[in-house]
Amino acid sequence: MPATAIYPGTFDPITLGHQDIIRRARNLFAEVLVAVATSQHKTTLFNVEERVALAQQVLAGQSNVAVCRFDCLVVELARRRRAHVIVRGLRAVLDFDYEFQMAIMNQRLNTDVETVFLTPSERYCSLSSSLIKEIAALSGDISSFVHDRVNEALRAKLGKA
Ligand code: COA
Repeated sequence: MPATAIYPGTFDPITLGHQDIIRRARNLFAEVLVAVATSQHKTTLFNVEERVALAQQVLAGQSNVAVCRFDCLVVELARRRRAHVIVRGLRAVLDFDYEFQMAIMNQRLNTDVETVFLTPSERYCSLSSSLIKEIAALSGDISSFVHDRVNEALRAKLGKA
């Protein structure tokens, strides 16, 4: 069984959809490292320290899950952590082109690393962090899409507390 799988993403913020993928990955790998990208290409609502802290809080107590931040290539992180698997979620066909491109690029950058795609439960297939932020900003109910702690943090950040 591969020891460590890295689940990289922006996690701005982590949602129940991400948590669903992590739960599935935990059943397949000895350790799942949730790797929060500092994010060069996206403007984020939460800074990286906040995104890491939220992920740590919602995943607290899960024995084989760790959270880290990274600002290098994901394959470089994999090399440093001796991981050979990158986990990504595939929600719908819309994700496919982008994910395929990243998986091929990562394969070219490091042939020792495989990307494994997991599908979340159907109820999370149309979820995204951007949609959740938009709904929260307009005072909509996001309680069925995010952990209570993330809900609180979003409301505080958006001045809706
Ligand atoms: N449930 C809910 N939402 C999900 C989801 C799931 N299971 N899986 C993905 N998403 C959503 C996210 O919320 C996010 O939504 P948003 O864009 O509306 O905010 C979107 O899908 C994609 O987010 P995420 O999974 O966090 O990926 P990303 O595209 O932001 O992250 C990195 C990309 C960080 C993995 C990638 O840029 C990377 O590896 N960077 C490091 C540098 C590097 O190695 N670059 C070369 C890559 S070839």
